[in-house]
Amino acid sequence: VVERHARLYELNARAASFYAWVLWNSPHGAPGRELLERRGVDRATAERFQLGFAPDRWDALLTWMLKRGATQEEVVAAGLATQRDDGGAYDRFRNRLMFPIRDREGRVVGFGGRALGDAQPKYLNTAQTAIFDKGKILYALDLAQDAIRRTHEVVVVEGYMDAIAAHQHGFENVVASMGTALTEEQVKQIRRGVDRIILALDADAAGQMATLRGLDVLRESLGEADRPVLDARGLVRFERTLKADIRIAPLPEGQDPDDLIRRDPDAWRAAVAEAKPLLDFYIDAVIGDTPPTDPREKSELVDRIGPVVREIGDEVVRAHYVAEVSRRLGLPEHVILRARPATSRRIR
Ligand code: CTP
Ligand code: MN
Ligand code: MN
Ligand code: MN
Ligand code: MN
Repeated sequence: VVERHARLYELNARAASFYAWVLWNSPHGAPGRELLERRGVDRATAERFQLGFAPDRWDALLTWMLKRGATQEEVVAAGLATQRDDGGAYDRFRNRLMFPIRDREGRVVGFGGRALGDAQPKYLNTAQTAIFDKGKILYALDLAQDAIRRTHEVVVVEGYMDAIAAHQHGFENVVASMGTALTEEQVKQIRRGVDRIILALDADAAGQMATLRGLDVLRESLGEADRPVLDARGLVRFERTLKADIRIAPLPEGQDPDDLIRRDPDAWRAAVAEAKPLLDFYIDAVIGDTPPTDPREKSELVDRIGPVVREIGDEVVRAHYVAEVSRRLGLPEHVILRARPATSRRIR
């Protein structure tokens, strides 16, 4: 198994060199160079991330790999080519800007490929292989880990371009979850020694959903002994393994970190610095922009928010949140902290 894995790492490393060579040295790489220029990625950054370009051909990588002693089966097994029924195979990535995905040791384990223009799908990733599982990797962690250790803070963004823009502008403690809600495996990789996890996800509906699901994962991933508790000031803390508070950076409507960083790095800096404690985000998300007027809906919301607010140890902070929820729901303060509803107690 170790040997088979070693071979997969080797094939991925070689593919990364091929794509990078095309990007910088071949006429076939011109569309990739133009895309990077349009997106404001400088050459030094592109090289740090080993960006590349997959030519608009069916067999560019395959032919190159076969010439250098790889077999078709190996290239297919590495997720870089697709088997055809007639026994042949063709390149999985064509006419795409290539983002090598590296593990925390810096080994290339797979790729994301961005289509040019509006071609679909926008991103294509390596299929799952023995060394590549998208849900277990955080993009840019290899480049971010020194800064994370130094600052005890990690910023999680969604996309490849978000992480790249951040690093180019000197925000080096940034990693990308690659679109999905944070997984337990991803959290495990970053939580050690980190005081604060800041989620800076796209300010769109999908990003908000990913944030909320990410929070559930953070809660669930820690097991009974490590359940989050609210500390005296109403920050979420994880008692044993993770002494971190989780914050949500507010981005301007419709923007993602890449948009914001390129337009206004100071605004990005401020968004990260002003990241809202999880509790505020949670209350906002549960109540929504227009609080319900229906009494039964209000009752449900109180059942969700009440237990969380009740855990706040500091009396002043607790009073603050009780007052806020009370005001937003138009209910007297004492009912916000009411005991669990009689019906559910009877069921237990
Ligand atoms: N993603 C993916 N497959 C898709 C769409 C998205 O793997 N079909 C992942 C990619 O890692 C992508 C991230 O989710 O970077 C965020 O998606 P999105 O916000 O749609 O893309 P951006 O990263 O913002 O890319 P761009 O700015 O080029 O549109
Ligand atoms: Mn330190
Ligand atoms: Mn998005
Ligand atoms: Mn985005
Ligand atoms: Mn984007």
